[in-house]
Amino acid sequence: MSRTTRSKPQPYVEEAHTIKPRNVSFQWEEVPLHYIPDEPLATQFWNVMHLVIPIGERLMAGALSEALPFIADERLREEAIGFIGQETMHADSHEGYHEHLAAHGIDVEPVVRNASLMLQKILSDHGLKGRAKKEWLAERLAFYAAAEHFTAVVGQWLLDAEGLDEAQMHPMMLDLLRWHGAEEVEHRDVLFDVFQHVDGSYARRARWALLASAGLLGTWLVSLNHLMAQDPSRRWWKPWPLQIAGAVRRGLVPSLTIFATEIPVYLKPGFHPSSMGTLDSAIRYLATSPAARAAEQGA
Ligand SMILES: [Fe+2]
Ligand SMILES: [Fe+2]
Repeated sequence: MSRTTRSKPQPYVEEAHTIKPRNVSFQWEEVPLHYIPDEPLATQFWNVMHLVIPIGERLMAGALSEALPFIADERLREEAIGFIGQETMHADSHEGYHEHLAAHGIDVEPVVRNASLMLQKILSDHGLKGRAKKEWLAERLAFYAAAEHFTAVVGQWLLDAEGLDEAQMHPMMLDLLRWHGAEEVEHRDVLFDVFQHVDGSYARRARWALLASAGLLGTWLVSLNHLMAQDPSRRWWKPWPLQIAGAVRRGLVPSLTIFATEIPVYLKPGFHPSSMGTLDSAIRYLATSPAARAAEQGA
């Protein structure tokens, strides 16, 4: 594969790690509403991921499918197909939790509907044809490449988040988040490489990095607000910023400042996702994740 955007060779790339979906499954019957015990805000923070992220993952998988005919490099094409499989499995797995959340009395429908309407309105193919269709595809790939930078950062955060173990988060939910996080780290190169291969405009990359950052942060906060309003144990007397800061301090959620601090990192002209560190902890987690191991044994 041509890696012309890379500032210097990255050893693991030569190992040609294959991106492939794992056919995981989760059972939610035993999972309590607050799967991080006594932590309503942190629990609802991760519930936003269950509700909103699948919408983006399905749109992203669709855009990448549209891009396949433009990917001349065989190896990158294989990675893109594996990536589509992984994102589809992420979306299926998070959506599998919606019913259980609703059974706990949380009305998930408005969050899903509003996020879906907004994302569809902005990111659908709009029925364009010819050159306009390809240009719009490049715009969307730039958006998804930036979004994938944030998911890789959060994925690594989840792998390192000892606070979630210390808080005794429900093991199945922790495995869902870490399996997803590990695959985000594992496939962090793919969308960026596809965007560079198909288009690679720096102006597009910069514009959509800013939009992705603001859009993700805004969507997360609006959705969190809706979920917290329904949480029977919410600490209504405590201002939100203080609750978020407390959850960050206890290592239960990542700091929202990443939406600002990661922009200069991503916008460095020679940036490539492989410069974000090794894949070791992601690969190690995927080798021990109960869901990933069960999928491996059932394959
Ligand atoms: Fe994902
Ligand atoms: Fe991803």
